[in-house]
Amino acid sequence: MNTYLLALDQGTSSSRSIVFDAKSRICAMAQQELPQIYPRPGWIEHDPLLIWRSQLATARQALKKAGISASQIRAVGITNQRETTVLWHRRTGKPLHHALVWQDRRAEPACAALRDTPAESLIQQKTGLRVDAYFSATKLQWLLDNIPGARAQAERGELAFGTVDSWLIWNLTRGAAHVTDVSNAARTMLFDVRRNAWDEELLALFCIPASVLPQVLPSAAQFGQVDAQWLGEALPITGVAGDQQAALFGQACFEGGMTKNTYGTGCFMLMHTGGDFQVSGNGLVTTSAAQPNEQPQFALEGSVFVAGAVVQWLRDGLNAISSSSEVQHLAETVPDSGGVQFVPAFTGLGAPYWQPDARGTITGITRGTSVAHIARAALESIAYQSAALLQAMRRDASAAGAVPVSQLRVDGGASVNDLLMQFQADLLGVPVLRPKIVETTAAGAAWLAGLGCGLYSGTDELTSLWQAGRQYLPTMPSQRAAELMQAWEHAVRQACAQ
Ligand code: G3P
Repeated sequence: MNTYLLALDQGTSSSRSIVFDAKSRICAMAQQELPQIYPRPGWIEHDPLLIWRSQLATARQALKKAGISASQIRAVGITNQRETTVLWHRRTGKPLHHALVWQDRRAEPACAALRDTPAESLIQQKTGLRVDAYFSATKLQWLLDNIPGARAQAERGELAFGTVDSWLIWNLTRGAAHVTDVSNAARTMLFDVRRNAWDEELLALFCIPASVLPQVLPSAAQFGQVDAQWLGEALPITGVAGDQQAALFGQACFEGGMTKNTYGTGCFMLMHTGGDFQVSGNGLVTTSAAQPNEQPQFALEGSVFVAGAVVQWLRDGLNAISSSSEVQHLAETVPDSGGVQFVPAFTGLGAPYWQPDARGTITGITRGTSVAHIARAALESIAYQSAALLQAMRRDASAAGAVPVSQLRVDGGASVNDLLMQFQADLLGVPVLRPKIVETTAAGAAWLAGLGCGLYSGTDELTSLWQAGRQYLPTMPSQRAAELMQAWEHAVRQACAQ
């Protein structure tokens, strides 16, 4: 029976493929690391051909490991690192340049020129985003302006632009489909999220010829057929979403107020706001949620730039631990951080602070401070930054008279850390809930594909597939949690004064 779903999850550091059965159980998984290219400080690139080849290789490996043939796969879902920008020739399929990765800051001068001008509020009203080099528009503008001849070729309709989903679909369909979904388009800064359409005014503002753009579809739709050459069988691609929106979907957060946090290298917290487009007054961005049909659906999003990366720094920068999994054990050897505050602003601070010039600080050190206190403070910094995001979401939700957040669903690598999850619940004052399957990003893509191909009937059925794993209830008195947050905010101000 062809009731399996294949999810392709193309992330910043690796390409992964997962085979799910119809009950959303994982049958097999394959992963390949993706090399990072750092041509200059602040510039980060990926080789688009390696993105494609590694993704295809893991799809083949996952099928093999699952012991099934491609004919047993009902549909393919795709989820991807967002904003990362690829530009290629329509005729040859060759990229003109390495992909500019979402963390790449080279377009900052173009963004600085737009801040504090009328364009800034135009962009926020149409796209829900802040003017920032994080998003695709100024990356694409940079490519068109800096690759010799690119702009002229684009004007002649010879080039295609895409985020990583579009690039993969182009290759999977051997150039038959140049498409994306609303949740990825929403991250380009060129897309009117309320009309679900590319916006001519924004295209003119960023000097982007419309001929380079992919067609935008809902997140569950007919995106094209995987060519039989790749997996041995022609397979329909029927679900696509950016990875954070896919995780929100895979956490079965389908209604206003439902919130998830993904603990990876950074942290991405998204709160579904239903059909309401809400501009944040508290440093968050508004984005399209995964949309199974034509109906616009939105989320508020906050991103923390350094989360799991602080543990990597303890390992590689400080040599305090030899593997990341040791951090919990080291942190547990002390009852608390002993007054040490660690603000890991290695690359400035993201939401809700938006302080690009802030620098990492460790404060409150005394003669009694040990490396265990620093490890504990490092772990706690992940929870503090996430709590600051949730506070911003609460303020936005209450300003809009929306449902307050009653629970945080968590996933991603560090969500298995019990110490961190308990501290997170204590700071937030709401239960933190980890699902049985933490591969929610890939599950979200598989669910969208399952909806798109008719395997699933709707979100009610998906809700019944989501299974709670472990719950962490807040145990700290709220007064104490408030004091800790105050101390954290004080430390943030010190990091911003560097
Ligand atoms: O916005 C960037 C985000 O989509 C990257 O996610 O998991 O690939 O680091 P990840």
